[in-house]
Amino acid sequence: MTAGLFYLTTGRLLLRRFTPQDRDDLMGVFGDAEVMRFGDGVKSAAWVTGWLRDRLDDYARRGYGPYAVLRLDNLAFIGYCGLFYFPNVNGQAEVEVGYRLVRAAWGVGFAAEAALAVRDAAFSSLELRRLIAMIDPDNSASIRVAEKIGMRYEQEFMAEGYDHPDHIYSVHRPDEMEASAAS
Ligand SMILES: CC(C)(COP(=O)(O)OP(=O)(O)OC[C@H]1O[C@@H](n2cnc3c(N)ncnc32)[C@H](O)[C@@H]1OP(=O)(O)O)[C@@H](O)C(=O)NCCC(=O)NCCS
Repeated sequence: MTAGLFYLTTGRLLLRRFTPQDRDDLMGVFGDAEVMRFGDGVKSAAWVTGWLRDRLDDYARRGYGPYAVLRLDNLAFIGYCGLFYFPNVNGQAEVEVGYRLVRAAWGVGFAAEAALAVRDAAFSSLELRRLIAMIDPDNSASIRVAEKIGMRYEQEFMAEGYDHPDHIYSVHRPDEMEASAAS
């Protein structure tokens, strides 16, 4: 893996920052009911334009955000994976690893491969100490991806507008775990 804030590469994937031109490709994610089954429903093109604007803002304000995920072999867009800042999750600020892929790209390990690269960059280049994922307890594929990047179930979280709690999974930077074990 090549670490960097603007892009990451893995064996099969290129993760790069979004640009406003990615809106149509993103509709393959946010406009697909199956992909959004565990989210709050399909989104319009106007909503995606706003989402992209917020992500460009994330890059400028925080120095990180989600990446567009492309296959290295043909540069096809397959979804997103990356970091999202949440100011208040059960009373504390958190950084989430979020991921959604177009259906055609499911089932061959792309999400775990991308999320692993994001986790490693977050702990090394960005020096974040802890990452979470907020996952619907019925979303087995997503839970499996979280587990594959070292996350473990921690607690419930009731997100605004949801009718049942998500499960929070978390992983700590290795030296953080050693520090808390020693104290
Ligand atoms: C979650 C998602 C990103 C996973 O993408 P993916 O590239 O298929 O994931 P991977 O191939 O890296 O790994 C998926 C793992 O879950 C397992 N899995 C897939 N579907 C599953 C299911 N229905 N039940 C149980 N396990 C499942 C796979 O077997 C694999 O585990 P394994 O490697 O131990 O066999 C993809 O399904 C997706 O985009 N879903 C819709 C959006 C979403 O729910 N995002 C997460 C929101 S929290």
